[in-house]
Amino acid sequence: MEIPRTGVPEALANRLSMAEQHDYLRSRRSVLRGGLLVGAAVAAGPAFLPGIAYAEGSQVTPTARHLAFGRNPRTEMRVGWQVPTPVRKPFVRVGADPKHLSQRIPAEVRALHSEVPGVIAPYDQYYLHADLCGLHPGRTYYYSVGHEGFDGTAVSTFRTAPARWLPTRPFTFTAFGDQGVSTDALAENGVVAQQNPVFHLLAGDIAYADPNGAGKPIGGKPDADHDTFDPKVWDAYLTQIEPVASKVPWMVATGNHDMEALYTDNGYGGQTARWDFPGNGPASCPTVYSFIYGNVGVISLDANDVSNEIPHNLGYSQGSQTAWLKRRLAYLRSQPDVDFIVVFFHHCAYSTTKNHASEGGVRDQWTPLFDRYEVDLVINGHNHVYERSDAMRAGQVKTEVPIGGIVRPDRDGTVYATCGSAGRSLYAFPAPDSYAGHEIPLREVPSYYWAKGGAKVTETVAWSRVRYTGYAFIALDVQPAFFGGKSTITVRCVTNHGQEIDRFVIERRAGLHAGIGLDLGGDLGDL
Ligand SMILES: [Fe+2]
Ligand SMILES: [Fe+2]
Repeated sequence: MEIPRTGVPEALANRLSMAEQHDYLRSRRSVLRGGLLVGAAVAAGPAFLPGIAYAEGSQVTPTARHLAFGRNPRTEMRVGWQVPTPVRKPFVRVGADPKHLSQRIPAEVRALHSEVPGVIAPYDQYYLHADLCGLHPGRTYYYSVGHEGFDGTAVSTFRTAPARWLPTRPFTFTAFGDQGVSTDALAENGVVAQQNPVFHLLAGDIAYADPNGAGKPIGGKPDADHDTFDPKVWDAYLTQIEPVASKVPWMVATGNHDMEALYTDNGYGGQTARWDFPGNGPASCPTVYSFIYGNVGVISLDANDVSNEIPHNLGYSQGSQTAWLKRRLAYLRSQPDVDFIVVFFHHCAYSTTKNHASEGGVRDQWTPLFDRYEVDLVINGHNHVYERSDAMRAGQVKTEVPIGGIVRPDRDGTVYATCGSAGRSLYAFPAPDSYAGHEIPLREVPSYYWAKGGAKVTETVAWSRVRYTGYAFIALDVQPAFFGGKSTITVRCVTNHGQEIDRFVIERRAGLHAGIGLDLGGDLGDL
């Protein structure tokens, strides 16, 4: 196995303390630091100050382990975790045999300082990351993380994606949005784990450390010019997800509550410290990416870039994200072994709740591309409910997709699923719930969308097929077929009590999966 790389060269990392590694990285990458300390930190030198008291390593236990795919899920896995105080020489060990893990592989340090005088007391968080490369496709690996004085956590496990161009077995992945920290969030994670997913998608609004979600500077209380913020919420959140995310790649997108003005102009400095994003999106959008798993191409977008409703980051990519999306959709659609394209992001193209309803910016900029490239499923959050559309083209219902129905996106249109009820307080619909076992057919629902300038435009819609006011997520069971057969994704909506309240099947004629035996797909990093 190739030695995994980190942000610090191995030979150098072995000689440097954690603080020195941090200083090394500070000189080579965008610096992450708290809002009002920025000026002081620049003037005074590193926020990770010399003379800091290191805890005895044996007294510090790593927490909050979370996995993410790299650019190529077949050969790369990124391991992240957290320590409460500085430690020396953090590392990961990995191997195909849990009793024979590798030598210690140095981890990268990303320290995050939060401080707003009179509002947020100084608070430091230490995130550690290791980028494992050169793994074999379709293999189970074991890993442990530790640091000087702490030999390693209990062994956990992950599995790489299957090789491309080879027949793949059926697999399941899961998705939701809008989680936060709560007993309902914890319950939902438990039911997600029961699905045994190969990866999980989170469509934005992750921890709610910023409970106001407007992307504004941090103040003591929310008002027209300020949000509030508590960085410690992230500690609780990452601990909450660890039982699942330490085994299942936890692939996040950014929502409005993830624009944390404390750290950087666009608010993503905290996110890039905590998470490992594949990094193959447009240069201006650090949280945007795509990957291929089996016969499914996945694209993660940042809808803050197109939101008329919450415009703090509106237009920040200057169109580069939409241009990248078009190129990436064209690329994925041209791949013979990619049957399905699933796109996920935060703000809804189609939802009817009273709280946020539909985002006109998404409709204007992205749904024409979803139509053109016949995207198979769009997954959103933002509205804290489950709601699912019929198959859509050009903003209208092209084909009705009842519960239990089958949709062929190339012929019928694209289904949009809002799955924003992973743990935060629930929203209300303007019409009665309608779901499996409780169907109330209703073809006209009064709603609205957010137009340019932030105006609410009322509309009466026919596309709201399933509505459920409760905690839920979707599980997607992928059944690949050989060339010419029918590949399917069975989409199930499952409540956090394990009850199924929606199901439909997406069907595609299978492309080339067999016979070549080469991984021709690369890492999608060059487009
Ligand atoms: Fe939300
Ligand atoms: Fe949101």
